Amino acid sequence: MTTAEPGARPRVVLGVSGGIAAYKSCELLRRFTESGHDVTVVPTAAALQFVGAPTWAALSGKPVSPEVWADVHEVPHVRIGQQADLVVVAPATADVLAKAAHGIADDLLTNTLLTARCPVVFAPAMHTEMWEHPATQANVATLRARGNVVIEPAEGRLTGADTGKGRLPEPGEIFELARDVLARPGATGGDLAGRHVVVSAGGTREYLDPVRFLGNRSSGRQGVALARTAAARGAEVTLVAANVAVPDPAGVKVVRVETTAELRDAVLEAAASADAVVMAAAPADFRPAALSEAKIKKADDGSAPEVRLVQNPDILAELSHHRPREGMVVVGFAAETGDETGSVLDHARAKLARKGCDLLVVNDVSGGKVFGSPENEAVLLSRDGSTTEVPRGSKAALAQVIWDTVSSRWQTS
Ligand code: CTP
Repeated sequence: MTTAEPGARPRVVLGVSGGIAAYKSCELLRRFTESGHDVTVVPTAAALQFVGAPTWAALSGKPVSPEVWADVHEVPHVRIGQQADLVVVAPATADVLAKAAHGIADDLLTNTLLTARCPVVFAPAMHTEMWEHPATQANVATLRARGNVVIEPAEGRLTGADTGKGRLPEPGEIFELARDVLARPGATGGDLAGRHVVVSAGGTREYLDPVRFLGNRSSGRQGVALARTAAARGAEVTLVAANVAVPDPAGVKVVRVETTAELRDAVLEAAASADAVVMAAAPADFRPAALSEAKIKKADDGSAPEVRLVQNPDILAELSHHRPREGMVVVGFAAETGDETGSVLDHARAKLARKGCDLLVVNDVSGGKVFGSPENEAVLLSRDGSTTEVPRGSKAALAQVIWDTVSSRWQTS
């Protein structure tokens, strides 16, 4: 087990197995080293067919070997795993997943996987057929049941001409997910494994005509942080993304929508199999009563069209009052300001009761606080009236507290 000193550089083992996506892990390695991590690269022999040992050694500043027979006096097959704070295997081939699931230890990487007691993240990459094969799926299920985080591959272009599920997620996104894992010291990995969570993010667009819409400033960052941290804790995650301005997080199923009506349909569909739904999106409360099929023309007399608005359905209230599954935890967000009729928390309590959700994440937006910021601070208000203050910090840190709270509700329900 690792005994990292406080303030020491986190020790990361980057396992690389033999897939064409091995070249992408050079970028992942750079991200780790440039942000102060101490990285030991452990490639398989097959990985070295794609990217040579000198590349890994130069980028990590350490010698690299796929074998247990190099530097035997240092007992690397035990030491590397024992001392690690995190092991990331990217790309993880069907072969390495199978070996890990069955405890086979025939090279340095598979030995390291047996000796590591820290969180282990596998980022699989392979052809769709190999990923979907019952053998691979059974191995993935075994690894997840043991607390390993096996992230879902991305969809898109694969080697050759085919497309489908099996791509390695973008290295920058694997890095962000790995950081979320490291941000929970003492946690051994996937505590949300076996749970399906749905997160909505971004701001909806309500169209007036084919080119014009009413929108809002939501970037989707808080929702994306929620999706990524849940994936880093082993959950199956569906992100319903409305015009989100940041890249898709790794290991997450993304459903893209534009309007509140589309958001509602996508959230309700995904919620049918969900254990929790977090409505971090900013759906527009109103939409134009009429949608013009043709672009609205300017009038010659200088007049402007009048736009009549109608209310959109309240997705959070609908979901809270008609839960598709028993035990589902429903979380809403509220941006509030205090006024003469009550404090921020008074308004938030009334909103929680009105919406019927279990948990409300309350942002005090008096004076324009929070909008557009990479950070957030909030009060988590529970249905039973209890509150948890989350001090100013990263959106990922707030997301972790939200999942802790959701998870404790699952334990007690
Ligand atoms: N929400 C929703 N559907 C809508 C509008 C909002 O599900 N049509 C969700 C948001 O995703 C968020 C919460 O409700 O979780 C935010 O509510 P808010 O917009 O503040 O609530 P309102 O009822 O519009 O309250 P207010 O009158 O204060 O604007």
